[in-house]
Amino acid sequence: MNSADQRELKKHVGKEAVKHVKDGMVLGLGSGTTIKYMVDALSERIKNEGLDIIGVPTSNKTKRYAESLGITTKDVDKVDHIDLTIDGADQIDKNFQGIKGGGAAHLMEKIVAINSDRNMWIVDESKMVKKLNYPLPLEVIPYGSGQLYRRLNRMGLHPKFRQSGHGGKLTTDSGDYIIDLGLPEITTPVQLGEKLDSMTGIVEHGLFLNIVNTIIVEHADGPETIEA
Ligand code: 5RP
Repeated sequence: MNSADQRELKKHVGKEAVKHVKDGMVLGLGSGTTIKYMVDALSERIKNEGLDIIGVPTSNKTKRYAESLGITTKDVDKVDHIDLTIDGADQIDKNFQGIKGGGAAHLMEKIVAINSDRNMWIVDESKMVKKLNYPLPLEVIPYGSGQLYRRLNRMGLHPKFRQSGHGGKLTTDSGDYIIDLGLPEITTPVQLGEKLDSMTGIVEHGLFLNIVNTIIVEHADGPETIEA
């Protein structure tokens, strides 16, 4: 799929997702390019239908963008519940386990996701795979991250520090670094997630396991809604 086609699919699925938004909802707003289209469509619905929506952003970028379109946002700690979170994903396998964090926002995305009543992922069809093989992001504390990198290397997990566009290591909204694991295939995501959860210095990994409720996959001939 070329990037123009993929952009079109992302735009369509963003529009499709906001059909699930109801007046009065507290809505988790994910991060990434697909979510930017969703936020565009959401702001249109809010303007045209006068919906009362509070958005809970999962990154500084999403917060700035939503607010620039007039969407009211609140910090995750300022709401008592989140009805639904709509987010993108980098890959989803046949058991609906996902990898997120291609945009370096998976820590905040996971915090919002686990505090949401329901989670919806919206993706173009290229993101649906049999087995996960997208570089797995780890958000890591800068202190000791060189030692952590070496440990991951010794474990055969193919770590690589993510670089920022301006040179140097990329820093997340929380001031951490990202190490991506270039694994050829993740055959046992639950076991890998447990191993990474137990490693000091890793704040959060990008495996989102048993989190999603609904997936909307955009195909060239229209959307497919999957209840996970
Ligand atoms: C950001 C994410 C994104 O949801 C994921 O990277 C998908 O992004 P895009 O919609 O740009 O393809 O997890 O951390």
